[in-house]
Amino acid sequence: MSSAEALALEVRDLVAGYGDYPVVDGVSLKVPQGKVVAVAGPNGAGKSTLLKAILGLVRVLSGTVLLGGEDVTGVALEKLARLGVGYVPQLDDVFDSLKVIENLEMGGYLCDRVERQRRIESVLEVFPVLRSKLHRYAETLSGGERKMTAIARVLMLDPKVLVLDEPTASLSPEMSRVVLEEQVRPLSRMGKSVLLVEQKAVAALEVADWACLMVRGKVEVSAPAAEVLGDPNMREIFLGRSTSQAAAEVAGTE
Ligand SMILES: Nc1ncnc2c1ncn2[C@@H]1O[C@H](COP(=O)(O)OP(=O)(O)OP(=O)(O)O)[C@@H](O)[C@H]1O
Ligand SMILES: [Mg+2]
Repeated sequence: MSSAEALALEVRDLVAGYGDYPVVDGVSLKVPQGKVVAVAGPNGAGKSTLLKAILGLVRVLSGTVLLGGEDVTGVALEKLARLGVGYVPQLDDVFDSLKVIENLEMGGYLCDRVERQRRIESVLEVFPVLRSKLHRYAETLSGGERKMTAIARVLMLDPKVLVLDEPTASLSPEMSRVVLEEQVRPLSRMGKSVLLVEQKAVAALEVADWACLMVRGKVEVSAPAAEVLGDPNMREIFLGRSTSQAAAEVAGTE
């Protein structure tokens, strides 16, 4: 990434965790405007904690989070939403007991009624499938439809940056590809900047510009997604041999 490239989001040397234990142990990454950055890594690597630390949901012990160049370290999620950051968590991403339309209305809570209606129309243009489900309760949706509702809800505030935590968790490999192709790719086409955490690394990298591999709280590999996909060794590492040992091999340090 050239340093002249405008950054939507940047994390510098972030250390964060629960209590004094650093689950995120010195992470730096950059999300350029309009690009998709995917963070892969094994269970427990600290991926969700990294996102929560960026979003002011977990205590930052040291380091910096910059949004469009402004320091927003430790700023609460509610305020970040007003600054143009949308977050789709790994769990509890929709209101189950509400209808799809009510979920969208909740997502547009900062807008007046007229603007809210206009935005519902524009998110339905992005996800036309939802039009026929507007009056279904979220709990009756399929996994993919549910994730679509979650992303649509966050789009209601027209965020500049979207932070997505494992949008394909609990979905079949086939459905995961559909979600990534049909729900994440349109975001980059719309010019949104996306920070995407995914365990289904190869599928994620197919819709990403840049790839990071996170292992035990650290980013072990950071490279263009196409480069990782084109290199059988790197692919294998991102696919599952996601240990610091394997990452060290690629870095040529062992
Ligand atoms: N609320 C919490 N309190 C204490 N420790 C936690 C808490 N949440 C997560 N952890 C610990 O932090 C570490 C990283 O967890 P995290 O959820 O960030 O991993 P992850 O990479 O998102 O994993 P997964 O792929 O399974 O979602 C784990 O050891 C986990 O047990
Ligand atoms: Mg997680």
